[in-house]
Amino acid sequence: MPHKNMDSPPPTQIMEDLWAAWRAPTLVAAVELGLFRQFAEGRGACEQIAASLGVSEPALRRLLDALVGMGYLKKGAVEYELEPVAERYLVPGGEFYVEGIAQFARRMSDDWWRLGEVIKSGRSLIKVDDESRAREFFPTLVRHIFPWSFAAASAAVSTLPKAALRRIGRILDVAAGSAAWSIAFAKALPSARVTVLDFPEVIAIARSYAQRFGVADRFGYLEGNLRATEFPQTSYDLVILGHIIHSEGEQWGKQLIAKAFSALDERGVLLIADLIPTDNRTGPAMPLLFSLNMLLHTESGDVFTMAEYRRWLAEAGFKKVATLRAPAPSPLIFATK
Ligand SMILES: C[S@@+](CC[C@H](N)C(=O)[O-])C[C@H]1O[C@@H](n2cnc3c(N)ncnc32)[C@H](O)[C@@H]1O
Repeated sequence: MPHKNMDSPPPTQIMEDLWAAWRAPTLVAAVELGLFRQFAEGRGACEQIAASLGVSEPALRRLLDALVGMGYLKKGAVEYELEPVAERYLVPGGEFYVEGIAQFARRMSDDWWRLGEVIKSGRSLIKVDDESRAREFFPTLVRHIFPWSFAAASAAVSTLPKAALRRIGRILDVAAGSAAWSIAFAKALPSARVTVLDFPEVIAIARSYAQRFGVADRFGYLEGNLRATEFPQTSYDLVILGHIIHSEGEQWGKQLIAKAFSALDERGVLLIADLIPTDNRTGPAMPLLFSLNMLLHTESGDVFTMAEYRRWLAEAGFKKVATLRAPAPSPLIFATK
């Protein structure tokens, strides 16, 4: 066989994918050691931080340098300081602090190392789409994802045409979690009123976030399982399905879309935020990996293509479907009744 050097790909991609698994433990170690809190007041030198944390100084220096390489810290002649992303999301107590990183990462990575076993059996490890599991699992998850959903929601709110925004008075946030989506809309629309639907354990979290963002007086709550709960027929202007269809799967997902349709006022809008691969499921990698995440953790969850969403939305009666780019893994879907 001729040796076609020019056509031989280097193994870089494989190394990068395998070594990518080191990044999460590096971040988790920093979080668990309380490292980011050390910079809350400003810069710090390695000696001083090592003494304050009671850890090995030479070992800490390697961790600090790795975090510089990963883009979480900046390094001066002697001192280190936070990069903006770490300052905003990794310092405990901050408004956008990503809570529960360590818990979440450890839990997820343990499961992911069992993917081969799940592919063999075709059976998930846990079923977070079962009510008892869901009520235990989601209270931790929804705190963790608040900053991501809120960033995407805020971008959506600032990109939507003013005329469309002005029409929104009543909002139903289904499977609201920490209410990141509806809080962003409520902040931008001072007269909008929001109904949040979720399990009681999660509603308690939504309440605390609504309070924190100063919109609690316009929030009402509906506790229950969305599969069994009729949506209030209140003629909503906006119904939000944020990151719920992927864990519900096709059958329940279609039902959610149909229920959203009947809860909407004439010309009302359904907003769907989810991970969406290309129609032939060839990319991007993130939604396709998320499909495996659903295989590991749900009975019937999966990711769905834009063609599937368009078909389901048309079947439910929606007349117009538009997409909007946001700081999220996939575009947001806006479907008008
Ligand atoms: C991935 S979180 C999404 C939270 C939020 N919408 C967001 O995008 O950030 C899924 C949410 O759906 C809720 N949920 C899942 N199954 C549910 C069910 N059967 N009934 C009510 N809520 C449910 C969970 O409690 C959780 O708050």
